Amino acid sequence: MKKKCAIVGIGNRTHSWLSSIVEQHPECTQLVGLCDLNLDRCRDVNAAYGTTAAVYDNYDRMLAEVKPDLVIVVSPESCHREHIVKALEAGCHVATEKPLCTTIEDADAIVAAERRSGKKVFMAFNYRHIPLCSKIREIIKAGTIGRPVSMDLTWYLDYKGHGASYFRRWHRLMRESGGLLITKACHHFDLANWWMDDIPQTVFAQGRRNFFGPGHNPYQGERCSTCAHSQECEWYTDVCIKDRTEELSRELGYRVKGVREYIRDYCPFGEDVDIHDTMAVQVGYRNGGILNYSLNASVPFEGWNLAINGTKGRLESKITDAKPSPPWLPAEFQRKHEGRDVEWPDEYRIFVMPHQKAAFEVTVPNIAEGHGGGDFKIFDAALADIYPEEDSLNIFASAIHGARSTAIGAGANASIASGQPVHLKDWSF
Ligand SMILES: NC(=O)c1ccc[n+]([C@@H]2O[C@H](COP(=O)([O-])OP(=O)(O)OC[C@H]3O[C@@H](n4cnc5c(N)ncnc54)[C@H](O)[C@@H]3O)[C@@H](O)[C@H]2O)c1
Repeated sequence: MKKKCAIVGIGNRTHSWLSSIVEQHPECTQLVGLCDLNLDRCRDVNAAYGTTAAVYDNYDRMLAEVKPDLVIVVSPESCHREHIVKALEAGCHVATEKPLCTTIEDADAIVAAERRSGKKVFMAFNYRHIPLCSKIREIIKAGTIGRPVSMDLTWYLDYKGHGASYFRRWHRLMRESGGLLITKACHHFDLANWWMDDIPQTVFAQGRRNFFGPGHNPYQGERCSTCAHSQECEWYTDVCIKDRTEELSRELGYRVKGVREYIRDYCPFGEDVDIHDTMAVQVGYRNGGILNYSLNASVPFEGWNLAINGTKGRLESKITDAKPSPPWLPAEFQRKHEGRDVEWPDEYRIFVMPHQKAAFEVTVPNIAEGHGGGDFKIFDAALADIYPEEDSLNIFASAIHGARSTAIGAGANASIASGQPVHLKDWSF
């Protein structure tokens, strides 16, 4: 019997799931329902993929009528609680995009609903499956650096591309995305929890708007496409000289050429931007480990720096991709790099320094496709129940891992607001 799959939230990310359903796993999945507030986005999917899923703008009706086995939640983060809890209560399993949700109360409600329903939440943390990230976990699990006691993790978003993109879309509002400490850092906090192999207990954080938001550009508007300052503002050119949405969709292999009526040109310096671009977070773990994390969205490149100190050694790794984000690139950059891939290294390195042995280097392949290859692993598992024979790394995440990641981000947001440290809830049985 095929697994009856329904999707809620038919935006950009959904197309990765759709490709896997339609192209990779047609023998074991059947797309039965599509739900979005914008019904045309659902119709676009049926037209482009040749599917005949029922389309809805009412989620309750979709659950009642198509009775899915699996609901895939790809709506914005602020809707995740409602969509996950209702699906569980309707007797469906759930595969949810990150983050699990945006607040600790939401996480509580989801974990409780999962326990009540007896159904499962598959938490789609694709970063765990990136070869570099799973290799770091493997080195730690092997005891090579002992028990991790401190971790420095600094994450960089490139200011014109990926970084700016959060300030140009709905993510720019705390109430929609929970800010970058939820919508982006949820990946990083999950990795830190997983590598630390521990449960976060306390968090203290600071956050600022130093680069984006009101007051950081000579010009301010609502959207680039309607802006009176289009001639003078250097940020205008990034989005509006050439809308590469269709081109990008083709490059990514999406069948729908851009998400209809999608707004990605809000002014990154707009009056209503209320998320931070500069954040530092300190997390204390139950067994004594400490995480020092920072996230900055005004960096000239994309990447991260990681150092983990253990009781028996240290490891270090870093990524500094000059990774382009095509739709927002300045025209001259596009011209310069036209026709070739930009600065993707073939492999990444981990430097391991055990206390009592010689230091050594481990190299792992860099897979450019599907978020470092992570997407393929999570889609195979969630859609086709393809799991490795052995999972000694505990690589697959569930609601409780999503809850612990959200707890750090939500706790950090509360700490930024109050100036006080925050004690986190745990959801262990
Ligand atoms: N794992 C990853 O690497 C990754 C990458 C991108 C996005 N995501 C996550 O996927 C989710 C979707 O992101 P996106 O970039 O596709 O966003 P998007 O804005 O492109 O799409 C979201 C869609 O949900 C619809 N929607 C909004 N409210 C709804 C509601 N109440 N009911 C039904 N539909 C509703 C919108 O109309 C839109 O079409 C987010 O949670 C995001 O964080 C994960």
